[in-house]
Amino acid sequence: MQEYSDRVRRLDKTIAFVPTMGYLHEGHLSLIREGRKIGDCLVVSIFVNPVQFAPGEDFENYPRDLQRDLELARKNGADVVFTPDDKELYSNGFQTYVNLKELPNHLCGISRPIFFSGVATVVTKLFNIIKPHFAIFGQKDYQQLSIIRQMVCDLNFDIEIIGAETVREHDGLAMSSRNVYLTSEQRNSALCLYKSLQKAQALLSSGINDSKKIIDSASEIIKSGTNTEIDYIAICDPKTLIDIKKIEGQALMALAVKVGKTRLIDNMILIP
Ligand code: PAJ
Repeated sequence: MQEYSDRVRRLDKTIAFVPTMGYLHEGHLSLIREGRKIGDCLVVSIFVNPVQFAPGEDFENYPRDLQRDLELARKNGADVVFTPDDKELYSNGFQTYVNLKELPNHLCGISRPIFFSGVATVVTKLFNIIKPHFAIFGQKDYQQLSIIRQMVCDLNFDIEIIGAETVREHDGLAMSSRNVYLTSEQRNSALCLYKSLQKAQALLSSGINDSKKIIDSASEIIKSGTNTEIDYIAICDPKTLIDIKKIEGQALMALAVKVGKTRLIDNMILIP
C-alpha cells in the first residue's frame, strides 16, 4: 500500500481516502463518491479495528461482508480497497497509542473510555500507510470527526479533513452498519432519536433556548419508544463539546441511545 501511494505521489497525483469498518451502506457510499470527486486516486479502507472495541462490545459480531463491500466500493469509484488483517496492523509487540486530552472526555467518550484512543490510533496508522492528501469522515460521528481534525492539527499531518453530511433513511433514521441488529419493532422505535433532534430544533425556533428544557423534551420522546435506554443527551459547544446551559449561537445536540442491545448515536447542529 505504501509503495502504491508513493508511486501515485511521484506522478504528482492526489490521493483521497475514506476509512471504514465495512458493511457499507449509503452513508459510506456518499463519502466514497465525495472522495472520487476530490482525489485523482481514491483509497477506501475496510478494517474492523479491534482496539476501539472494549471487552463485551460487539467486535466479534460486528457485521462483515467483504465481497459485497468490494463490489460496492468499486462501483462507487474506489481505485483501491485496503483490507489489512488484525495481525498486519497490530503485531511486533504493538504499544503506541494516540490519546487526546480533552475532546474524548465528553459524549461517547464517557461510556466508551478507550474508543477514541483506538480510533485516533488506527486513523494515524492508516494515514501513515495510505499517505492521503484528503480524508473524508461523516458528521454522523461528530465527536470522531472533531477528534480527527484536532489530531491532524496537533500532529501536523499534511492532510485535509473533509466532513460529510449524515445520510438518513427515508424516515430519518441515520444510516449505520449497526442498524442490521434491529428487529422491525426496534427499527421503528429507533426513529425516536431523529424525532427528538427535530423537536429540539422546533423548540429552539419557538424561542426556548434553555438546554435543560430541550433535553427533557428529547428525553420524553426517547422514553416513549419501546425498549430504549438513554446513554446521554447533550447540548454542547460544537468546537469544545463542553455542555452549554443557554443556546445563544449554534450548538451541537448529540445523543446515544440503546435500542434493545444496540447502541445508536445521532446529532444535529441546532440553529437559533
Ligand atoms: P464506520 O462506522 O464504518 O464509518 C466510516 C465512516 O462513515 C465514518 O467517517 C462515519 O462517520 C461515516 N458514516 C457512517 N454512517 C454515516 C451516515 N449515515 N452518513 C454519513 N456518513 C456516515 O467510523 C468508523 O467506521 C471507524 O471509527 C473508523 C473511522 C473507520 C476507524 O476505525
